[in-house]
Amino acid sequence: MSGHNKVLVTACSNLALVKYWGKAESMTNQPATGSLSIGLDGLSTTTELSLAAGSEDEISLNTIQSGKSIDRVRTYLDLCRRLYGFEQHFRAITHNDFPTGSGLASSASGMAALALAINQLMALELSAKQLSQLARRGSGSAARSVFGGFVEVVMVADAFARQFASAEHWPLSVVIAITDLAEKAVGSGEAMLRSATTSPYYQGWLDSHPDDLTLLKQAISNRDFELLAEVSESNCLKMHATIITSRPPILYWTPATLALIHKIRQLRAAGCPVFFTIDAGPQVQAVCLKGSEQRLEQELQQVPGVIRTLRSELGGSPHIQVCPP
Ligand code: DP6
Repeated sequence: MSGHNKVLVTACSNLALVKYWGKAESMTNQPATGSLSIGLDGLSTTTELSLAAGSEDEISLNTIQSGKSIDRVRTYLDLCRRLYGFEQHFRAITHNDFPTGSGLASSASGMAALALAINQLMALELSAKQLSQLARRGSGSAARSVFGGFVEVVMVADAFARQFASAEHWPLSVVIAITDLAEKAVGSGEAMLRSATTSPYYQGWLDSHPDDLTLLKQAISNRDFELLAEVSESNCLKMHATIITSRPPILYWTPATLALIHKIRQLRAAGCPVFFTIDAGPQVQAVCLKGSEQRLEQELQQVPGVIRTLRSELGGSPHIQVCPP
């Protein structure tokens, strides 16, 4: 057992530019595709983890103590107990500093924070690769939130993430336009399964994915913004095409989502270095070269249907604090 009474971990959300969509194996949450993301400094989850006094996990998420997201944490803690052979139960108090469950990858930062906290509290001494694998078992996108900067998922039998380039390599900014704050009706895990089993375009998504990743890496290595924009938008729309063509269909977009797509394309045509991407939800993430974010945010706030905007820099390395016994 560790010598710590309590650990405090902050992990950041991340935004995939070439996305993970589909599972090769759901038991181990092995992804069907690789992915490459940027860490979002401005969107974080902080988890305080200690041992519970009793024989049950005590979990709270933004002051909520029951429901789907709490059950998911409980299942994850059970998995950790099984994997590492300890029996202790935990007290996990978690806060997100951004809207939860609405397509802003709260499971990425949340599960990464939990994996890092368990490793620290239980003195598991996992390597970065093992930590990423453990986070992935909680949520595929969480594998990437163990690192900051540009992060890729390596597609081996037990997939893991690693840093592809540091945040300093190419400082980008992200403006997130929120168009709907309601929790989404269909979670990404369920939506992925539906795409994979019913969309006629899913096979095309899988087949064309490796080329997207190659181009994205080329764009990042050469700091080629035009290529970055082209491949990211195309990959995002391809993913949504498989979602929209599922049966029954899932349409995450609101009218404002579509209006934002058009606005961002107009701005780019007028010389603003920006492109859009959208996860499994109605919010639009506008990625731009640093220096354009202020004007971009003002422009996006004026699009009808935009409730609010958030801003983030590229970064997102986790932070771990241990409280001595
Ligand atoms: C659209 O990581 O939330 O954000 O593994 O089932 O927890 P689970 O899925 P999750 O899916 C993320 C999907 C995405 C794309 C991405 O982040 O790569």
